[in-house]
Amino acid sequence: MSTINKRIPPLKNSSYNLSDYKKIREGFSWNDIGKDFIQKNGKVNAAYETIDRHVEEGYGDKIALHYVNGDEKQTYTFKEVKEKTDHYAQVLKNHGVKKGDRVFVFLPKTPDCYVSILAIIKIGAIAGPLFEAFMQEAVKDRINDCEGTVLITDKEMVNRVPQDEIPSLETILFVEDIESLPVKAVNGDVVEWVDVEDGLIIHYTSGSTGKPKGVLHAHRAVVHHYISGKWVLDIKDDDVYWCTSHPGWVTGSVYGLFAPWLNRATIVIQGGRFKAEDWYQLIDELNVTIWYSAPTAFRMLLNQEELLEKYDLSSLRHVLSVGEPLNPEVIYWAWNKLGVRIHDTWWMTETGGHLIVNFPSEEIKPGSMGRAFPGITVGILDEEGKELPRGSIGQLAIRTPWPGLMKEIWGNKEKFANYFKYEGWYLSGDLAIQDEEDYVFFQSRNDDMINSSGERIGPFEVESKLIEHPAVREAGVVGKPDPIQGEIVKAFITLRTGYVESKELLEEIRTFVKSNLAAHAAPKEIEILDELPKTKISGKILRRELKEREIEIIKVK
Ligand code: PRX
Repeated sequence: MSTINKRIPPLKNSSYNLSDYKKIREGFSWNDIGKDFIQKNGKVNAAYETIDRHVEEGYGDKIALHYVNGDEKQTYTFKEVKEKTDHYAQVLKNHGVKKGDRVFVFLPKTPDCYVSILAIIKIGAIAGPLFEAFMQEAVKDRINDCEGTVLITDKEMVNRVPQDEIPSLETILFVEDIESLPVKAVNGDVVEWVDVEDGLIIHYTSGSTGKPKGVLHAHRAVVHHYISGKWVLDIKDDDVYWCTSHPGWVTGSVYGLFAPWLNRATIVIQGGRFKAEDWYQLIDELNVTIWYSAPTAFRMLLNQEELLEKYDLSSLRHVLSVGEPLNPEVIYWAWNKLGVRIHDTWWMTETGGHLIVNFPSEEIKPGSMGRAFPGITVGILDEEGKELPRGSIGQLAIRTPWPGLMKEIWGNKEKFANYFKYEGWYLSGDLAIQDEEDYVFFQSRNDDMINSSGERIGPFEVESKLIEHPAVREAGVVGKPDPIQGEIVKAFITLRTGYVESKELLEEIRTFVKSNLAAHAAPKEIEILDELPKTKISGKILRRELKEREIEIIKVK
C-alpha cells in the first residue's frame, strides 16, 4: 500500500475556498447548498444557473471563454454566451423541441458545442453530447437507444451519422446555419423552469457487458457541480480554468462546462488533438491558473520535459487529475519540476460529480485518490455487502443518495438496480482500500472494463465489432497494462477457415473497428490464437484468463 510514500503538505500562504476539511465536513448539508439554486416555486434550470445568472448579476462583460485551435482564437463574454445560447434555444423551440426530448450534439470541442448543450438544457430538453471521434456505429447506437429526435452537428461530422438507421431522428441542425436561422419572437424568457428530478444530460458509458448504457442525470446535479467546482477546483474570480476533456465525456461536461461556469470562471476550450508542445504553449500564453487533466496526459508531458525550458508554466496554481490511477512518480515530478501538487479526484459517469478528492488545503498522500467529499460516505464492502475494517481490500461503495447521482439508466431498470444491490449503497465496480485517516487507495476494477488513457471501454462492444469482420470467428478483448496509457486495448481472436494470419489482415481488422466504432476503442494489439479459453459449462470466453496471460508476460519480461 502506498502510505509509505512521502506526503506532500498544502502550499503555504495560500487561501482556499475550502480551508478546513474536517470542520466543513461536520457541518455540511446538501440542502443548505441547494437553497441557492432552487427558485421560490421549487423549480430549477441548470443552464440558467450556469450562464444567465451571471449576466443578471452584472458580470455580463466578464470573459466566459477563450477558444484556441491552432492559430484560430476567439473570446466570448458571459453576455455573448447567453445571447448565442438564447438564439440556439429559440431555433430548437421553433423546430418543435419540447421538455424531456433527447437532443444530441455531435461537434468538435468548439464554443458551438458548449452553447448547444446549454441551449438544449435551457428549454428543458435532455442534452446528449457525443464524443467527437465516434464513428457511425457508436453514434447510431447512442441516438437509437434513447430515441433522440434532433441532432446538432456540422457539415463534416454529419458524414459519420447514418441517418437511415436512426428512425427517431427528425431534424438535423448544422452549426454553420443556426446563427443565420430566423427565429419567431418567443414571448418572455426562453428558460423552461423544471423540477429538480427532470432530466438534464445523458452520457453513454461502457460496462463490461452489453452495449453502452445511457446514464441520465437530473437538474438536481447542479448543486453537486457548483459546490465541487468551488471546493475541489477551487475557482476564484480571476482564475483561467482549463479542463482538457471533451463534453462528450462526463468530465468534459461536468468539470469542463457546468462546474467552472456555475462558479463564474473564465474557461479555456482547446480544439485539436493532444500535442505536448501545444499544451505547454497554451498554459503559457493564456496564463492558465487551474488545470484539470488525466494521468496519461501528464505522463506524456513528463516524457517531453525538455519543453519546460521553452515555456513558462508559472501561472499554474492548482492542478487536478481524474479517470485512471495517478502514479506517485508523476505527482513527485510535478512537485519537483513545476512546483505544483497534482490533486487526484475519483468519480464516475454515474456519480455525476466528485466523490473522493484531494483538496488544495489538505495533505496529499501520493498513491491515494484522497478523501470523501463533504456529505459523502465511503464504504469498503465484502461480497455480502458488509463493511470491511480499515486497510482491507474490498468493493468501493458510497452511501446513497447525493445530488449528482444518476437518475436512471435509460430504458434499463435491471442495469440500474445492479448498482444498488446492497441496501443503502451505490456500488462503483472498483476495488479499493481505505486507511485509518480516511484516505482511499484505488486497487483495480472488479470487472472486465478497460481503462485506456482514462477512457472507459467495454470489451463487449469491441468484441461485437470484431466478429462482424468476415475473417474473425471469435474475439476476447482485455486491457493490457501500458506505462503511458494505463491500459491498451488488446484483442485475442480466432480466424475463420480459409483465412491466414498476415500483417495486412491484422491491420485491416484493426481499421475495421476504428472506422466503424471509434479510434480509442480499436485494439492496439491483435493476437491470433487457435482457441480462446472458455468456461466449461456455458462456453463463455474467459477474459480474465486472457488478461492474466498478458500480465504474466509483462512480469517475465
Ligand atoms: O475505475 C474507475 C476509474 O474510472 C472509472 C469511471 O470511469 P468514467 O465513468 O469514464 O469516469 C471517468 C471520470 C469521471 C472508475 O470506476 N477512475 C476514475 N477516477 C479514477 C479512476 N481510477 C483511479 N483513480 C482515479 N482517480
